[in-house]
Amino acid sequence: MTVSRRSFLGAGIALPALLDPASAFPSAPPSEPAASQDSSFDPWVEIHRENLHHNVGEISRRVGSRPILAVIKNNGYGMGVSNVAQLLEARPEIAGFAVVKLHEAMSLRDAGIRKPILLLGPFDEKNLEDAVARGIMPMVYTPLGPAMDKIATKTQKPVPLHICVDTGIGRVGVPYFQAAPLIRDLAVRKSVQIQGTMMTFTEDVEFDKEQIRRFQETCAALEKDDVALGKKHAASSFSLFQHPEAFFDMVRPGMAIYGAYSENEFRHTGTMDLRPAVSLKARVIYVKRLRKGDSAGYNRAYMARDDVWVATLPVGHADGWPRVAAKGARVRINGALYPVIASVSASHCIVEIGKEQRVSIGDVATCFDWQDGSRPEDVSEACGASVYDLTMHLNPLLPRRVL
Ligand SMILES: Cc1ncc(COP(=O)(O)O)c(C=O)c1O
Repeated sequence: MTVSRRSFLGAGIALPALLDPASAFPSAPPSEPAASQDSSFDPWVEIHRENLHHNVGEISRRVGSRPILAVIKNNGYGMGVSNVAQLLEARPEIAGFAVVKLHEAMSLRDAGIRKPILLLGPFDEKNLEDAVARGIMPMVYTPLGPAMDKIATKTQKPVPLHICVDTGIGRVGVPYFQAAPLIRDLAVRKSVQIQGTMMTFTEDVEFDKEQIRRFQETCAALEKDDVALGKKHAASSFSLFQHPEAFFDMVRPGMAIYGAYSENEFRHTGTMDLRPAVSLKARVIYVKRLRKGDSAGYNRAYMARDDVWVATLPVGHADGWPRVAAKGARVRINGALYPVIASVSASHCIVEIGKEQRVSIGDVATCFDWQDGSRPEDVSEACGASVYDLTMHLNPLLPRRVL
């Protein structure tokens, strides 16, 4: 009989409930609506409030109490953009928030966030008007002076903005050697209030030094002529470790706030004690013993060399648990770490438990959290997924629980 992937998966999930009433999943009768949107087995994201606050304190200490512009783009690095902003807003160290998508900036205002918001991403003239109306500052690097004049005429107020200078990353930003005329043009307009001037590092340690030189020279030439550049900022998490000379007037980290070291080697430098503030968890949905020679996963990616217990988790790459997790990541269940085996499919993965059946249906499985051995950096080291992939790719639809 040919079994399609879809029918095979359906049967695999339904069987334990049918055969073993004791292990049946709590479910509503088919004719009635489910009591809750998320079954208690489905993956969820936890946010560790205390760790988040601890990291802000660590960063502030590291940067000599300079203001922190918290980068909370990409759904707050997976934690929920409004969750993060609401948790951090009252901290005096946090000067404001930076996001890339206009809708994220808007949702922050909708959530009642009052601190300054910098929009790092693109906008058209209508977007710009809407953004300014909600107190969202654009990051500017093209000749937008006339557009600012129009808006300021309507609002009777200058438009606060930051200017982005490209010192070598080649992504966005006015090239540093063409920056002066653009900045002068904006600075002389009554419609514009330059609140900040920024650049982004390539994070190539040697070239970064050249980028610092280019930025400083560009800024110094303008400041000599009394052009007010606002707060100068450049330092992301990488630079918090590598370039204290580039802390300037404000720093602009993301990942460090969420407690993961952006490079694994930073973990052992003692520069900052970062504590992960985000966790991905799910509950075991199925436990079974494979016989020697049995396979698991698509393409029979895993072959049992002996009889072995395995557990199935309802978390896969569509939830943000990367496919490469099957190349060495370990999941914590009841305090012990078990390797992810076979392949990570869209909504499932399988872990190898060993000779004994040490886990049960319903046990909590932690893909990553704040404990040594299951920190995002541990998963990253084990399977090659970057900590950015682990956090930023968490499906926005997963429930978020703030602890
Ligand atoms: C312009 C800019 N600044 C700062 C950051 C923060 O970077 P990180 O999360 O490495 O601290 C980012 C994120 O990629 C960024 O795009």
